[in-house]
Amino acid sequence: MAAANHPSAKNALIVGASRGLGLGLVETFLARGWRVTATQRNASPGLAALKSEALTIETADIDDDAAVSGLHDRLASQTFDLVFVVAGVATQAHDPLHAVPRQVAAQVYLTNAISPVRFAETFRDRLAPGGSLVFMSSILGSVGLNTSGGWENYRASKAALNTLVRSFAIRHQAEALSVVLMHPGWVRTEMGGAEADIDVATSVGGMADVIEARLGQPGTMYLDYRGETLAW
Ligand SMILES: NC(=O)c1ccc[n+]([C@@H]2O[C@H](COP(=O)([O-])OP(=O)(O)OC[C@H]3O[C@@H](n4cnc5c(N)ncnc54)[C@H](OP(=O)(O)O)[C@@H]3O)[C@@H](O)[C@H]2O)c1
Repeated sequence: MAAANHPSAKNALIVGASRGLGLGLVETFLARGWRVTATQRNASPGLAALKSEALTIETADIDDDAAVSGLHDRLASQTFDLVFVVAGVATQAHDPLHAVPRQVAAQVYLTNAISPVRFAETFRDRLAPGGSLVFMSSILGSVGLNTSGGWENYRASKAALNTLVRSFAIRHQAEALSVVLMHPGWVRTEMGGAEADIDVATSVGGMADVIEARLGQPGTMYLDYRGETLAW
């Protein structure tokens, strides 16, 4: 019996998996014997190419409450050991804040900070006992570590994500949720660019190690892909 068909195989829901780090995480968890439900906004050639019986592909835009609710309904029979909200945008990230049109800046905040936490609120009831909820943050979301500036609006959106996730976990503290805000490293993806430090395989392998090692541990941690704790 293939590992992923085994009744004890773990289940992951990876949100924003059409390409980049999300797609890499899907490949990695499948290779580790997990069953994976992966979401895309539009048909993803990368996901379609994986052709694994352990992979289910769903479609949802995290900014669309009706789409997220529809996804929640379609996955009604399932619980997940890992819910990982990976989706994020970096629109006009290189421009100083005053050069980013208000609507563009607000949309980055909606996608990177508001929508992931709203998604978690909707899917909280689908987290299996002993499971973890992981959000893709960034070291750029650290207020304390911001000594170099740049990426102003993106930084603020990830700092907001960190703050909103901590508030979410405190609001649900009776459930002792296992929550991670993850920094994947600076990674060579469309967002990270060709000059970034590490490749997708290094980042997603590290993140999967960190997640598997602390699956279900209560508390809210801000960690990088090597398991190092970051300053808020
Ligand atoms: N690369 C880095 O160095 C780095 C460093 C720190 C943090 N991060 C974070 O890691 C995450 C993934 O980044 P990446 O480097 O893999 O970037 P990427 O290649 O640009 O991929 C971004 C992913 O997010 C999806 N997405 C964007 N908006 C969405 C929405 N409203 N609903 C659903 N999916 C949406 C995209 O889907 P479409 O294909 O439909 O656009 C795509 O799958 C992001 O949260 C990013 O901020 C990246």
